Amino acid sequence: MQQHAFGRREIEIAEQEMPGIMALRKRASDDKPLKNAKIVGCTHVNAQTAVLIETLAALGASVRWAACNIYSTQNEVAAALAESGFSVFAWRGETEEDFWWCIDKCVNAENWQPNMILDDGGDATHLMLKKYPAMFKLIKGIVEESVTGVHRLYQLSKSGKLTVPAMNVHDSVIKTKFDNFYSCKESIIDSLKRSTDIMFSGKQVALCGYGEVGKGCSQALKALGCIVYVTEIDPICALQASTDGFRVVKLNEVIRNVDIVITTTGNKSVVTREHMEKMKNGCIVCNMGHSNTEIDVKDLRTPDLTWEKVRSQVDHIIFPDGKRIVLLAEGRLVNLSCSSVPSFCASITSATQALALIELYNAQPGRYKCDVYLLSRKMDEYVAILHLPTFDAHLTELSDEQAKYMGLSKTGPFKPNYYRY
Ligand code: NAI
Repeated sequence: MQQHAFGRREIEIAEQEMPGIMALRKRASDDKPLKNAKIVGCTHVNAQTAVLIETLAALGASVRWAACNIYSTQNEVAAALAESGFSVFAWRGETEEDFWWCIDKCVNAENWQPNMILDDGGDATHLMLKKYPAMFKLIKGIVEESVTGVHRLYQLSKSGKLTVPAMNVHDSVIKTKFDNFYSCKESIIDSLKRSTDIMFSGKQVALCGYGEVGKGCSQALKALGCIVYVTEIDPICALQASTDGFRVVKLNEVIRNVDIVITTTGNKSVVTREHMEKMKNGCIVCNMGHSNTEIDVKDLRTPDLTWEKVRSQVDHIIFPDGKRIVLLAEGRLVNLSCSSVPSFCASITSATQALALIELYNAQPGRYKCDVYLLSRKMDEYVAILHLPTFDAHLTELSDEQAKYMGLSKTGPFKPNYYRY
């Protein structure tokens, strides 16, 4: 089978498990709420993203796409999208140079002025802002998915350099709960199994960060019989970890004994060369958090250490005394590099992204200032509504008296913005 035909099949399989985004496609394709939108997309290029891309096109947008991660592209999917006429600049195993070339190609096209950005990590936004400031001025809105991209947007806003409204999809309740928690809960196991064939029972794991991703990973690992230690900087998350039954430690306290180290912090240099020096033979090191910053991989590229590629995405780093540590995906997101993520969670994120694009694109002038916004709670609820039929879930309706008693509209939103789910 040709690569694009294989990719098309992958996309069709993803569609089956992405009911929300498919429902949105069906509901909105007559209205074409993204008519004339020209969207630069920079996200993982996989079958689930292809479903989003084709939905945006069905809603009237023209899109150009690049990958936000050099390892996560499904080449066959990129081929299928190209075969269907989409401009996609991505392949698995891009170099750093290729990566920026692809984004540049995606942004800078003849006779094509983008007016929206859909970013995951802030790289397309960064490139356009730095290299094509005139083009950036004509952007109507940015939708950003990652914690780091969002952080950069808030910094831009603070320094007065953000000249367009932006939507922080990362912190939408519906996205955070599902993409960060449930998706990582399932895919951490999958990616470790596929890359190392490890048995989890009885293994000691150091998990850095107890946010949504950390909570999901720790639950899954505990359920399979791992002994999980958590590191945290935030006392609230540390207390949550403690009351969930995990020992909260400094990484140095356990680093010599653990079998697996997983980072989920969104931070940098959480696992340093010094930590890796102390790890025991065979310790597996991987990152579920941000990009490639959490593990100091660059500090392992020194002449005294030998790198041995044992499988795709699996490197043994051999120390002078013969000790090996097992580095997965060179410190990039292990689940996106070594396994797949649940399409259902991707459906929730994609539907949220699509609604954020529709909202910013169609907003009346003045509705949004040049600042970073969260999607309204009503839209979060709408994304959930799109997905409930899959489970044949039947919502209870408020009676008039109940709605009055609670001070709610019968059609939502059902919770105030400060509610923590
Ligand atoms: P979060 O903010 O809820 O959790 C991160 C936690 O790490 C926080 O509790 C923070 O206090 C803690 N932390 C920060 N620096 C630390 C350090 N040096 N040592 C120990 N703990 C530290 O964020 P969330 O939602 O859990 O996301 C974490 C990262 O995972 C982000 O970069 C996000 O973009 C990424 N992510 C990855 C996904 C994947 O598929 N692999 C999916 C969703 C998010």
